[in-house]
Amino acid sequence: MSNYLEIAKKKFDMLRDKDNVTILSIESSCDETAVAIVRNGREVLSNIVATQIDIHKRFGGVVPEVASRNHILAISSCYKKALEEANLKADNIDAIAVTYGAGLIGALLVGVNFAKTLAYALNLPLIAVSHIHGHISANYISHLDLKPPFTCLMVSGGHTAILDVDDYCEIKLIGSTVDDSVGECFDKVARVLGLSYPGGPNIDKLAKKGKNNIKFNYHPPLHESYNFSFSGLKTAVVNYVHTLEQRKETVNKENVACSFQEIVTDELTDKVMRYVLENGKKQLVVAGGVGANSRLREKLTKQCEKNNIQIFLPDLKYCTDNAAMIGSMAYYYLKNGLGLADLTLTAKPNVEITLSSKN
Ligand code: KG4
Ligand code: ZN
Repeated sequence: MSNYLEIAKKKFDMLRDKDNVTILSIESSCDETAVAIVRNGREVLSNIVATQIDIHKRFGGVVPEVASRNHILAISSCYKKALEEANLKADNIDAIAVTYGAGLIGALLVGVNFAKTLAYALNLPLIAVSHIHGHISANYISHLDLKPPFTCLMVSGGHTAILDVDDYCEIKLIGSTVDDSVGECFDKVARVLGLSYPGGPNIDKLAKKGKNNIKFNYHPPLHESYNFSFSGLKTAVVNYVHTLEQRKETVNKENVACSFQEIVTDELTDKVMRYVLENGKKQLVVAGGVGANSRLREKLTKQCEKNNIQIFLPDLKYCTDNAAMIGSMAYYYLKNGLGLADLTLTAKPNVEITLSSKN
């Protein structure tokens, strides 16, 4: 074991100066089992995602134990497919990267244990990557010209935040949600409307057929800060729907979806644009699953064009969970001497967003 650690550390240090670095990365934090191979943080050689959406649909959301079990069933074949698609052998891999948090602990553990086993068996350094930082990196593989500094609007199922990415590994939290994440809010509203899991894409689709004509009993909170709050809006929409149902009145689902989505996307757009403009920022990057929302993309693009800010939206396939984004971030951790893990690595349900290589 100690021999492994010595070799891994030496290889990690060597890779920091190497021109071509090929990383095999693993992601299993929620309901996608994913393995990818990424070169130099930017070039995706393979990107395998085995989604469990159809399995969890019948429960209306992700069931953690079911997710872990299905990660176990899928992970070996995802690994084999990732090598096949990249036309590489295990010998061609320089390092193994894995999401260690944030996420569902049992689900994460499957990826972490698989990664540790691979690293030990292949004598390769193991790089532990934060899922949240991975979502930012989805933009480095979508936009080869993107470089920090930029401001990032992080909108995922687990996180809603404004971040300053001053350099690849210099990440500061500016504001975040004080209660629910925006993804949770989309999923809850979808559920009350009887739409299937995951709710976000279904609200997005339905909203296109509706009108923005419903006034929920809701007032946007926290005007001064750069924090967000979504639980008040969620409750207002749920109460609106339940009240109509109790009165046996028809709920116009299209209009509810549209009116709700307009409020959420206005709040996200207004707040992040206010931060960008008040602080003289020049580039805005969007990250996370809700970054796939068509109305949010439209509003942010329009506002950025109007204010001469360069906007970067991740490709739709990299908005939601995947391992390519983890392999990309692992490369920048490595180049900055961060993330080297040993075989005691374990999964964490929550991780710090702030990152610095200067401590
Ligand atoms: O980033 P992600 O894949 O997982 C986490 O790291 O949490 O985000 C998943 C979230 C879910 O809440 C899902 O409903 C939402 O992203 N989502 C969307 C859209 N596509 C996915 N929300 C709104 N509109 C969409 N088009
Ligand atoms: Zn995610």
